[in-house]
Amino acid sequence: MSFQKDFLWCVGGAAAQQDGGYLDGGKGLNIWDALSEGHVKNNDNCHVACDHFHKWKEDLQLVKELGVNSYRFSVSLARIYPKDEFTVNEEGVKFYTDLVAELEQLGIEPICTLYHWDMPLWLYERGGWKTQLAVEWFERFTKTIVEAISDKVKYWLTFNEPQIFVGHGYQIGKHAPFEKLSQKELQNISRNVMLAHGRAVRVIKKYAKLSPKIGFASTCDVLLPLDGDDEEKAYLASFAGTRSGVYTPSWWCDPMLAGKKPNGCDWLSEEDLKEIYEPLDFAAYNIYNAQHTEEFKYSYAGMPLTDMGWSITPECMYYSAKFMYRRYGLPIMITENGMANIDFVYEDGKVHDPQRSEYLRTHIRNLKCATDEGVPVIGYSCWSFMDNFEWSEGYGKRFGLVYVDYRTQKRIVKDSAYTFRDIIKLNGENL
Ligand code: NOJ
Repeated sequence: MSFQKDFLWCVGGAAAQQDGGYLDGGKGLNIWDALSEGHVKNNDNCHVACDHFHKWKEDLQLVKELGVNSYRFSVSLARIYPKDEFTVNEEGVKFYTDLVAELEQLGIEPICTLYHWDMPLWLYERGGWKTQLAVEWFERFTKTIVEAISDKVKYWLTFNEPQIFVGHGYQIGKHAPFEKLSQKELQNISRNVMLAHGRAVRVIKKYAKLSPKIGFASTCDVLLPLDGDDEEKAYLASFAGTRSGVYTPSWWCDPMLAGKKPNGCDWLSEEDLKEIYEPLDFAAYNIYNAQHTEEFKYSYAGMPLTDMGWSITPECMYYSAKFMYRRYGLPIMITENGMANIDFVYEDGKVHDPQRSEYLRTHIRNLKCATDEGVPVIGYSCWSFMDNFEWSEGYGKRFGLVYVDYRTQKRIVKDSAYTFRDIIKLNGENL
């Protein structure tokens, strides 16, 4: 089997990581704009980032050049609602109607993420995800966006990696808003995010002009079988609900994708589950590598690592697709996969990144093996379209297919982008 004919080949980015223009166009502050100081390497911040807010048209031309047929972006919530839960910034809305109109012109399918971690500051100051206000407002925000762009957008992701923005943001204090809360408080936040998700899905279904396809982008820290015959064990351990609290994929996926309580959960009621669960069209997840535990230990001395220090395990693509499909029974969409590499401009003015080319080839080939075994996979999105603000790592980590010189905002297409383009051209047949 091959990848399906209308497979979504995609590149992605997120507002806080690439847009910049942090005070332009009537935008309000978000928690990353306002609270990062002292928490990000080299004192970097996301105020200018890749200046995509001003360069978006040229950037979309580049997206087109990469040969992809879809593009994943997120909406800057504080650009739409800069100061309170009622006041819509029409200029902010226009940024997105223009963006999707241009994508339509270019023949590129938009995939819109509603929440990629940049909570408006006003909402945070009024309690954010600790409160019902956030749940209710998120529903309103979703309606505003859906009314504005759903004539051109079919694919929707409500949340990006709730595991990380809740875990890093409220448990270990590594991401904005840099808090360290108790388990009980984390459960309350998780519940509110899940309820907001349920409401958003219903709003999309109710108001979307094009028939929508809806999901959310989970993490997927799958465990790898150590040898062929313990696949079952790896499957069960991968979804053990209490393995790592809010970081566990099934903590979120069981309620949101299947309407079930994750193992060991006593903080969601049956009523909650009904509100949280609204059938989704695909199981989307971001995956960079496999996890390991004492029991599933595949790391070894000298194991190759990316510039993030993440081990390189292409089989994670095969097993994650199989496991996620087995558990949730929905078509799979890979919403992020890629690597940070030590990229720099060579004397010839180009960026040669053979490691990333190899990473893409091997990971996509493993994904294809899952489709060979009958797992329906509808899309693959490389993270990221261009280098950008890697949260608490600042600009030092480069994930892009396009290099960004932050001094000049010059973009250089990296070699790996051409590898990706060749894979896309043949719909993966050359793998
Ligand atoms: C997942 C997040 O969604 C994205 O924002 C981040 O840049 C990548 N992982 C790489 O860490």
